[in-house]
Amino acid sequence: MSESEIEMEPERLIVFDTTLRDGEQCPGASLNIKEKLEVARQLSLLKVDVIEAGFPVASPGDFQAVETIAKEIRNASIAGLARAYEKDIVAAAQALEKAESPRIHVFLSTSKSHRTHMVKKAKEEIVTMAVDAIKMAKKYVDDVEFSPMDASRTEEDFLATVLEAVIDVGATTVNIPDTVGYAIPEQFGDLISYIKKNVSNIDRSIISVHCHNDLGLAVANSLAAVRAGARQVECTVNGIGERAGNAAMEEIVMALKTRKNFYQVDTQIETKHIMACSKMVSSLTGFFVQRNKAIVGKNAFAHESGIHQHGFLKKKDTFEIMDPKHVGADDSELVMGKHSGRSALAHKVKELMGYEISQEDLDILFDEFKILADEKKEIFDEDIVSLIHKQKLEDDSLVTYRLGKFKCSFETGGAPQAEVELLGKDGATFSASAEGDGPVDAIYNCIDKISGLQCKLLDYQVMSKTKGQDAQGEVTVLVLNETRESLGKGSSLNTLEASAEAYVDAINKLLFKRKSGPVEGSDIPGP
Ligand code: KIV
Ligand code: ZN
Repeated sequence: MSESEIEMEPERLIVFDTTLRDGEQCPGASLNIKEKLEVARQLSLLKVDVIEAGFPVASPGDFQAVETIAKEIRNASIAGLARAYEKDIVAAAQALEKAESPRIHVFLSTSKSHRTHMVKKAKEEIVTMAVDAIKMAKKYVDDVEFSPMDASRTEEDFLATVLEAVIDVGATTVNIPDTVGYAIPEQFGDLISYIKKNVSNIDRSIISVHCHNDLGLAVANSLAAVRAGARQVECTVNGIGERAGNAAMEEIVMALKTRKNFYQVDTQIETKHIMACSKMVSSLTGFFVQRNKAIVGKNAFAHESGIHQHGFLKKKDTFEIMDPKHVGADDSELVMGKHSGRSALAHKVKELMGYEISQEDLDILFDEFKILADEKKEIFDEDIVSLIHKQKLEDDSLVTYRLGKFKCSFETGGAPQAEVELLGKDGATFSASAEGDGPVDAIYNCIDKISGLQCKLLDYQVMSKTKGQDAQGEVTVLVLNETRESLGKGSSLNTLEASAEAYVDAINKLLFKRKSGPVEGSDIPGP
């Protein structure tokens, strides 16, 4: 194989990251604006070419997130999603007003199934709608992308007709979504070849692909498309996204880097930031990365078997095709201890997060760092990241309650009892006591009594953030109240405290969503 891998100058592939739109859209993953901005900063450090920051018309929160990211991020294009409706396109254009390099991404269903049951439009009407939408978007920005939704199940000749029509009126990128994850690599690659052959003006537009992972083939399909000539891939960090997720950015990027000679295509991604970005997205969304996940899983570079270790110790490339350093996956460093000073902490924040921390934020962070350093001998990168998240990313507007004191007792054979105090915004204190099936249940029953919400715990996960017996526990809960799901996170050296914090976080988000009105029942379907 390597004989056919001839050294040539690789072509550039555009990496379009949709972690903040398609990734964030999956149930439970919702991020607040500060968290979205933090992820966008990491994506800009990674040097993705395009950041799809949200779907501005979907909610005021989405609008604000796109607007905020568009204002700050300078080294990537910022995209806002829009249906082929005037109000969507206007909202996207307004949210992107301050972007240096704005892109409006218009989508419209084209497959027979979607035409019949979703948009209820004939083929000709779809073409007209798509053309009108692109013309309208072009009034606001030069860079306009069109996605024929469910393209992989659309009749090929009709797909070609739609693409030709939108390119004619200025679509600069045409994206081919495998919306339902139905494609398989050979067929998807053929579809791209078909488009290259049968869309007469295709040279005026970049072909992009957007693959979902329902059959576990999102990355393979994206790579097959790249082989066939696609020059933009849409993907998410850790592959998060609706249902089985989207194509994982780190896998596509590292496949192209590791097999550059085969693909003859490269990206500009600064791969050494991949691990930090993966950790941040996992921690903020609460979607844990499976241990054996390619590139960013804990075991991705671990060699357990004796034969592997033997070969590996003699020469790394016997069993290792990538250097862990290239994705920032070298062992987490023991960073600091209780004697470390402010400037060392500021330096560490810069290294981990890629930006200078303000004096004000540094003061708050340093106080928390000292408290943690007193409790815990060894402080790792992850501990610092977790402190930053706690301090910086908490959105005060979301907070109705904070965890105050709590007590929990149980003995063999008896029902665990808890007493919990929550602090309100105006300094009010609320307390309750309750029993439960276990200590965590007893604490959660107290919190339910105070909030007045009847919640069902759908998921509860606890992970250790770092090594060692004194590692912080990170708890993620998913709760259901009526029809709303809410994800909460908490971390502490004490797992019960982390559990309580996670539950309070989820309750705060539920209360905020109630206040800000129903998202369910709005007329904006998720794409
Ligand atoms: O999966 C899909 O079809 C989408 C489009 C909006 C590109 O997310
Ligand atoms: Zn999608």
